[in-house]
Amino acid sequence: MQLIDGKKVAHHIREQIKQEVNQRREQGKKTPHLAAILVGNNPASEIYIHYKIKACEEVGFSSSLIRLSAQVSEAQLLEEIAKLNENPQIDGYIVQLPLPSHIAEDKVILSIDPDKDVDGFHPINIGRMVLGQKGFLPATPFGVLKMLEYYEIPTAGKHAVVLGRSHIVGTPMSILLSRKHPQGNASVTLLHSRSQHIEKTLQEADIVVAALGMPEFVRGSMLKKGAVVIDVGTTRVEDASKKSGYALKGDVHFDEAAEKAAFLTPVPGGVGPMTITGLLLNTLEAVKNKDNK
Ligand code: GUN
Repeated sequence: MQLIDGKKVAHHIREQIKQEVNQRREQGKKTPHLAAILVGNNPASEIYIHYKIKACEEVGFSSSLIRLSAQVSEAQLLEEIAKLNENPQIDGYIVQLPLPSHIAEDKVILSIDPDKDVDGFHPINIGRMVLGQKGFLPATPFGVLKMLEYYEIPTAGKHAVVLGRSHIVGTPMSILLSRKHPQGNASVTLLHSRSQHIEKTLQEADIVVAALGMPEFVRGSMLKKGAVVIDVGTTRVEDASKKSGYALKGDVHFDEAAEKAAFLTPVPGGVGPMTITGLLLNTLEAVKNKDNK
């Protein structure tokens, strides 16, 4: 079994981004600037945002964090978004999800300028993705494609099974793997909470992308020998042996899957660093799109 080392792939791509940022600076071009809006203080979101900002520093991007209280009104949040849309210094930005329940997520995403939507969540970018047009891909599926590319894992004609139909991972992943693209051309099955014969379908999969948020759902017995297994799950589970009091668990039972899989991503250190790398790639693309305008 070969471990898919997300940290290594992320480092490799981030070095390339860093070089490009340096070149831009030498050429007098704009330094990419990513902004993030964080509403409230959800502990998981705090950590994600911390890593996103750190990653910006690592590659030489500018970054801004806009913190809003959990009680902020939807109108106030939309006002902040309008400011980011108007601000020529900001090339791309994200609104960290989830949002408090009194704010309509759909409405917020719809108000983001699609050309600054480096999370790739706006319906215009989703539409571009479905039609194979140029746009921003959602960061996690984008990161997964980059891993497949790095390890030269063939996908054409393979049976890929995606577990979970979230808007930010499962659904776009299933579309991307079936596209006409070097990391596409797969026959894709999307499994979800209403699916039947999950175990049997998984046993037929050449490629499994697990994005359910159910720790260790995928057992070794559900996998075909030689499968490529990408674990997107990162659920916090209590673990008294850890300083933080919790451990991150993937959707795949790692030790069992390691006995069956040809390629396997660990959690942490697999997809996580690649998600942020996808975000950095989108932000670089956003600034480049503006170069010639
Ligand atoms: N919450 C969990 N994952 C993500 C992500 O990729 N982007 C944003 N904005 N929020 C998230």
